[in-house]
Amino acid sequence: MITALAVKLGTPFWLYDVSIIKRQIQRLRGFDIIRYAQKANGNISLLRIIRRSGVKIDAVSDGEIARALAAGYRAGGNDLVFVSDVFDRTTLERVVDLCIPVNCGSIDMIDQLAKLSPGHKIWLRINPGFGHGHSKKTNTGGPLSKHGIWHDQLSELGPKIKATELNLVGLHMHIGSDVEYKHLGKVCDAMIESYMKLGMQVRAISAGGGLSVPYQNDYQNAAINHYVQQWNAARLKIQESQMIPVQIEIEPGRFLVAAAGCLIAEVRAVKKVAERYFVIVDAGFNDLVRPVMYGSHHHICFIDSASKLVTGASHQVAVAGPLCEAGDVFTQNKNGTIEFEALPLPKVGDFCVFADAGAYGSTMSSNYNSRTLIPEVIIDGSDVHLARRRQTIKEMLCLENDNHRYFLNIHKDS
Ligand code: LLP
Repeated sequence: MITALAVKLGTPFWLYDVSIIKRQIQRLRGFDIIRYAQKANGNISLLRIIRRSGVKIDAVSDGEIARALAAGYRAGGNDLVFVSDVFDRTTLERVVDLCIPVNCGSIDMIDQLAKLSPGHKIWLRINPGFGHGHSKKTNTGGPLSKHGIWHDQLSELGPKIKATELNLVGLHMHIGSDVEYKHLGKVCDAMIESYMKLGMQVRAISAGGGLSVPYQNDYQNAAINHYVQQWNAARLKIQESQMIPVQIEIEPGRFLVAAAGCLIAEVRAVKKVAERYFVIVDAGFNDLVRPVMYGSHHHICFIDSASKLVTGASHQVAVAGPLCEAGDVFTQNKNGTIEFEALPLPKVGDFCVFADAGAYGSTMSSNYNSRTLIPEVIIDGSDVHLARRRQTIKEMLCLENDNHRYFLNIHKDS
């Protein structure tokens, strides 16, 4: 099928398998509400499928709100929550107009919303004072993190919120991405403590996202059940001390979509450099940036035009992209040092498959080197369809069209 798709669409392209997303959703059913963090993959067709599986959604920008609505999520109820540490002016207007509940990561957001929208539903995103992540760039807790309301400020915040007419729904903690369960488990205690400090009733608590996936390591299957139990216990503790029931939410991104997606590129050159090889493919870090940005590992294999796995003697191989930048290499470690993996040598015209690229793959792509955004294909049972076509060069250039030149009419000295 990969060869057939490559002939039809050209390379590179993203390929997603819906059955894996559905399997992952099932594994989290122990939570009352699963709220998908669409920043991991916001393709509208995928969002539609995720919505039909009963999963709710969050949005972190005006654009993500638009995506959720395009996929059939409704604003105003509990379907869609806007989560951020800051409002830009447009998004503040949008959440007020559409009555979208807001998960506030700063006290300024609370102030700005209270002024414009009495009765608005809010969540509080709390920084519990610690965090973890697969990279320091994805650790969202602790004193070095810009995210969330610092836990110490909650005792003062309670009376302040009571003085507004805002409608507090719940408390939320997201300590980072691709986190081990032993760290995630610590959040439950911090949640109870934060609830006590705040001194207000809540209808829900959210565990945030961050659940890890096995890019390289063994799966921690059993740990999910234990994790649900820990959150359930936290819920019961909070429930005991107030009159109303509390729901538990989880907000996964990568856990739902990472393993469901891969990036397919074509091998365009095989270079021998000293005693080792560079295999250069037609996808670059403008498509999949995770290895360059975080030193993330994506399992790589090659398949030939008959869709057979390329096998044979292993060589020391680095897999690189076409960008005019030395760092455009998919096999590198967290320090940015290029690594050579033991891989069989492909030939020009074979395909290169990057696994586990369904999360933070297409959503982090860019037009760097003026390369266009690439197609996304979904396999859903026997149905294989194009969920995003390739961007054209004309579309990429049109924002800089000469017709916009006189639009500002502002003099430099004004
Ligand atoms: N909730 C909040 C408030 C978040 O900030 C995030 C991720 C999630 C949920 C979902 O986290 P997940 O379950 O996907 O780990 N670009 C990085 C990941 C950045 C995550 C940002 N926030 C990567 O490629 O690993």
